[in-house]
Amino acid sequence: MAVLKAGVLISGRGSNLQALIDAAQKSGYPATIACVISNDATAGGLERAKAANIPTHIISHRDFKDRLAFDQALDAKLQEEGVQLVCLAGFMRMLGSWFVERWRDRLINIHPSLLPAFAGLDTHERALEQGVKFSGCTVHFVRAELDHGPIIIQAVVPVLPEDTEETLAARVLEAEHKIYPEAVRFIAEHRVNVLDERVFITGIAAASETLISPIDGLAKSPAAQ
Ligand code: GRF
Repeated sequence: MAVLKAGVLISGRGSNLQALIDAAQKSGYPATIACVISNDATAGGLERAKAANIPTHIISHRDFKDRLAFDQALDAKLQEEGVQLVCLAGFMRMLGSWFVERWRDRLINIHPSLLPAFAGLDTHERALEQGVKFSGCTVHFVRAELDHGPIIIQAVVPVLPEDTEETLAARVLEAEHKIYPEAVRFIAEHRVNVLDERVFITGIAAASETLISPIDGLAKSPAAQ
């Protein structure tokens, strides 16, 4: 099977980019990172790409008169690099509908919450405020509306009573690094279909366990039964 050429768009530290790089370096992984594009020249992720000998490009939104012109420059660079799948990994610019439609079902994003809950920024702060007992992360196809689109894969993590934004973010991030390369693999293996804005993946088992939090230890002990 031909290897899928992915392009990764970043704005920051690039830990998800690193997870994709690490996966792509494993033998048999069906995708390769063709290029990394950042809208910010100071993004730490650029160094990660360089260390892995991946071509990097800086396309700053500040150099363009409007969103469309910026999006068109991104598109031109992605085409030039032969990119087949665009992965947003902490890319902090909204893409306009021209770009989103052009890359429809070939453009994915990772978001640090269980969408559709907590779309947008400050996800962990809001999750803690709301007192949810689970949070997690989502990889989804991108649509014009922020953090919306058919969901490919999600991971659930517990929210602990003592959590701060930082501890919760770290737990979710660890899960992000697991699911992003998985989502790219499913797509590269041509197993992902979007039907009526829902994703169906061939040859895959859904999670079979119900998670409950908090769990009362007493309720589980034989004496309590
Ligand atoms: C991640 O939490 C991702 O879910 C969100 O932005 C963050 C990027 O982190 N979209 P990194 O740059 O991949 O480390």
